[in-house]
Amino acid sequence: MMKEIKGFSKLSKKAKLEWLINAYFDGDQSVLSSLQSYWHNEADIQKLHDEFIENTITNYYLPLGIAPNFKINNSLYCVPMAIEESSVVAAAAKSANFWKDRGGFKAKVINSTKVGHVHFTWTGDPQQLEIWFNERSKIFHEGTNQLTANMRSRGGGIKKISLLNKTHLEPDYYQIEAEFDTVDAMGANFINSCLEEFSKILEIGLQNTLESPSPLPGKLDIIMCILSNYTPNCIVKVEVSCPIEELTVDPTITPIEFAEKFIRAINIANIEPYRATTHNKGVMNGIDAVVLATGNDFRAVEACAHTYASRSGQYKSLTNAEVNSNGIFRFWIELPIAVGTVGGLTQLHPLVKFCHKLLNNPNAEDLMKIIASAGLAQNFGAIRSLVTTGIQKGHMKMHLLNILNQLEATEKEKMTIQAHFENKVVTHKAVVDLFCEIRNVNNIEKLNK
Ligand code: MEV
Repeated sequence: MMKEIKGFSKLSKKAKLEWLINAYFDGDQSVLSSLQSYWHNEADIQKLHDEFIENTITNYYLPLGIAPNFKINNSLYCVPMAIEESSVVAAAAKSANFWKDRGGFKAKVINSTKVGHVHFTWTGDPQQLEIWFNERSKIFHEGTNQLTANMRSRGGGIKKISLLNKTHLEPDYYQIEAEFDTVDAMGANFINSCLEEFSKILEIGLQNTLESPSPLPGKLDIIMCILSNYTPNCIVKVEVSCPIEELTVDPTITPIEFAEKFIRAINIANIEPYRATTHNKGVMNGIDAVVLATGNDFRAVEACAHTYASRSGQYKSLTNAEVNSNGIFRFWIELPIAVGTVGGLTQLHPLVKFCHKLLNNPNAEDLMKIIASAGLAQNFGAIRSLVTTGIQKGHMKMHLLNILNQLEATEKEKMTIQAHFENKVVTHKAVVDLFCEIRNVNNIEKLNK
């Protein structure tokens, strides 16, 4: 039975744990020890983690792997990836190696504008509102001067403020849409603070009894002020290319056949949302892992990528491929990625700091290029497997260790079983059967499945 508690967040960490163990684990102290075993042994570092969120009870580990040999614009990177899925890092590393010898990833940031809105309703005359806004748009800049001073000194700030009439979509609905340059910061707090200030300026301005005609006839209601995670003007593009005959990916397929099947696979993702979703999920395997490792908001990047993939009205592939008239195979990705390299977790989380250092402390634009390259590499690896050997061969090879760990195999058993499957298809049943044979048991129910 679920237990209810009031004022949980006010309890000390010790008291929270005590309540949890008693309420949900019958006071089992081994559960407490298990949770505590994931605490950092340096109290300061643990405190840091405790304070990232509310009600922290322990740390949740994910593996941090690296995919070396990413040649991006002629610089080599060792790309950090935080992810639980067995084959992702291996696939990224394999693709990075393949393209390193074929010119590497060519990446460029097209633009880097972030955006946010004050959503409000206004019952007065739309034209009067428009005139009022156009005559006074300066007050929105002036009224936020203090808030934006720091950002402006770094070369960013508010780029544009517009009034948008959306009354054709929702009665009395308008937006103030603001565009921002947040330089190397993700900028969420900056943008939201500016938007909230705009709403106050709007309220005071529209109700200003000193103005003439005053106040503007109509009722203003601020609905909400929030940045948009859809940033279609914060775009990065990455491309790999090589003469078609250099597409020597697998002995079972010629380069021309491979290119044809590869392009066909992308065409299918472009016309079939069922496939596009999985296709883009593979792209996001690479993207999210780097976004997470570098302390950025992977939910924001995900949400944005999928909206962008639907911008034509149909959900489509985030990647594209062609063979051009010179016989060059080109494969590219273009998508919005809003990330930061200052602020947020970047200077706080010890492993995030490490990852930034590993990447030579990139600025936000360089990080966009690295992240998009990881997405492109991941998609290349997935399609390469799908149109040649099939995905399960590599996937199950990597998953083998997970199965063995679930079975609580010893190191010696792991080595024997891994050697056995070196050239064989891995299936869960085949692994369990061999494991039982080695242990000389026939009752697998005794083993963890
Ligand atoms: C698995 O996590 C990702 C893939 O399904 C992607 C794809 O099908 O393109 C392999």
